[in-house]
Amino acid sequence: MTEETNLETRIAEQDVFEPPASFVEQANVTDAGIYEEFEENWPDCWEGAADLLSWDEDYETVLDDSNPPFYEWFTGGTLNASYNCVDRHLPERADEVAIEWVGEPTDESNRSITYGELHREVNEFAAALRDLGVSEDDVVTMHMPMVAAHPVALLACARIGAPHSVVFAGFSAEALADRMNAADSEYLITADGYYRRGDPLDHLSKSREGVADVDHDVETVVVDRLGDDGHGHDLRADEHDYDDLMAAHEGATVEPVERDAEDMLFLMYTSGTTGKPKGVKHTTAGYLAWTAWTSQNVLDVKPEDTYFCSADIGWITGHSYIVYGPLALGTTTTMYEGAPDYPEQDRFWEIVDDLDVTQFYTAPTAIRSFMKWGAEYPERHDLSSLRLLGTVGEPINPKPWKWYYTHIGGEECPIVDTWWQTETGGHMVTTLPGVNDMKPGSAGPPLPGVDAQVVDGDGEEVPAGGAGYLTVQKPWPGMLRTLYNNDERFIEEYWAEYSDTESDDPEDWVYFPEDGAKVDEDGYITVVGRVDDVVNVSGHRLGTMEIESAVVSADHVAEAAVVGADHDVKGETIHAYVILESGVDDEEAVRKHIENAVEDKIGPIARPERIVFTPELPKTRSGKIMRRLLEEISDGEELGDTSTLRNPEIVRDIEAEVRGE
Ligand code: WTA
Repeated sequence: MTEETNLETRIAEQDVFEPPASFVEQANVTDAGIYEEFEENWPDCWEGAADLLSWDEDYETVLDDSNPPFYEWFTGGTLNASYNCVDRHLPERADEVAIEWVGEPTDESNRSITYGELHREVNEFAAALRDLGVSEDDVVTMHMPMVAAHPVALLACARIGAPHSVVFAGFSAEALADRMNAADSEYLITADGYYRRGDPLDHLSKSREGVADVDHDVETVVVDRLGDDGHGHDLRADEHDYDDLMAAHEGATVEPVERDAEDMLFLMYTSGTTGKPKGVKHTTAGYLAWTAWTSQNVLDVKPEDTYFCSADIGWITGHSYIVYGPLALGTTTTMYEGAPDYPEQDRFWEIVDDLDVTQFYTAPTAIRSFMKWGAEYPERHDLSSLRLLGTVGEPINPKPWKWYYTHIGGEECPIVDTWWQTETGGHMVTTLPGVNDMKPGSAGPPLPGVDAQVVDGDGEEVPAGGAGYLTVQKPWPGMLRTLYNNDERFIEEYWAEYSDTESDDPEDWVYFPEDGAKVDEDGYITVVGRVDDVVNVSGHRLGTMEIESAVVSADHVAEAAVVGADHDVKGETIHAYVILESGVDDEEAVRKHIENAVEDKIGPIARPERIVFTPELPKTRSGKIMRRLLEEISDGEELGDTSTLRNPEIVRDIEAEVRGE
């Protein structure tokens, strides 16, 4: 056997990995006593997180739990998130790089934005926003690709106390309009376009179409990303060029607005069980303390690091771990505009090599792609600057974990498999990289001070080795505060399942993230996946009900059911089972209608990978579609119980159709 295969075999057989000694030596946290200490001091244990921030007015109470589940953290305190992410670093770090921006075209140079420059840009843009009419508490929507102006815009909003609501740039015009209407948002920041695999894509047309569907007037700011490669858009009277605004406000300064700890920092719409996206509300102090504390203790961020998270700012991972957490700690955060395989499959490794990246944080779906592309791509580069690796967004199996550990980390980097959600604001279940052993496939124990438990259907904690549902039994500072304008749905979606909703005793309130999980004898939690109608396509969270209503809206579709099907690289993909209107037989035409409808209503990421036409859908006697059976068919699994079906014979027909029999 060669040395190489020896190594692969040894790693393949190993299920527990100790934190590498070289990492532990310098880690931000190494004392396992932190778990007990936090448990004993809860909730005051979170004072340390609040101490990472600079306050205008000190807080009076760590946790106000007098009205569960409407918890409030660090009450009485005031602060500004943009001051915390920018201004306060100036005395020490004005000339250090805050943001390394890497564009996709390889002939374009990176932009290294220092804290001094970031301060200037954030101030100028904050002044420009005010002049456009944005006041404190106005919701500003962003539909922006990964341009450097994106983090500037977030921080400028935070500076003037205007909550932002970011809509992922890949989402459609209709999705944008829905979210702007729901938040009553009168301001939009977008861009003319962006590069994707070498092509300059038009983005403004889509944003404009969205604005046309908003039921009130909108002022739009447009970032000119493409220059001469642009699509010849002339700006209208209600559209303002970003560079012109910046030039008109050159040198302007805006005093950071003193915000109450519990004032809203941002909204983020995310998918849930029912068709309409939910507006998750995060507040200033709790969220910022949580993202800063977890960046420091889980991602081991230090000011002198060059940290790289490959997410998009349009999702929560980008908010928490490209922008707020790293910048609150005064480090260098990297953002990359484009595709991981452009111009070749080594683009991320080239970035790591060029910038001497110290931490790399990505999604399992990306790792599965890297694995498929082969180890020769990372091998082209010197990755020895890396100290820690992270994953987020979906479960990671031991095989890709070990590939990541060996070929990217060179067995020298701990991997943090971080379980969390849009709603949790930041990490909840993960190993502490300098403290805990790693078990590939399992996220690890709950963070110190986080009371996550796996429970059965009755809410009783399952014994070691058991499986059930993940819950969080105590509040935490980074938690969502409510769903925007919808306290009732907030309770219904996250608390009703396991709480006594009549009680005002916090002990009776349990947060339910809608994930299934297992727990082992060491308390390590393996999150298996959603137990609701949410699917995770390449780490993107989508609602099957939203997709289903898009499919049904297509011409000649009588009825449809959408399910998530297992996929080697993407984790899950969308399968749609569709009944045509009677008399319609041009399946190809309908297929196109369906694809267009899904792209228009949600975006290309939600397009079904497979559309199966069927004369009937499996239904219970009461007429409910049995999606579980369709999922089993899609996954090629043994079919479960079909005895409760009204039409059991249809299941075999669909199965035969899917398997091409
Ligand atoms: C899933 C992304 C297993 C989970 C930060 C959760 C994970 C949903 C992990 C939230 C992980 C996230 N292991 N599953 N390490 N991290 N998930 O809101 O199902 O886009 O509920 O937030 O992703 O997705 P969201």
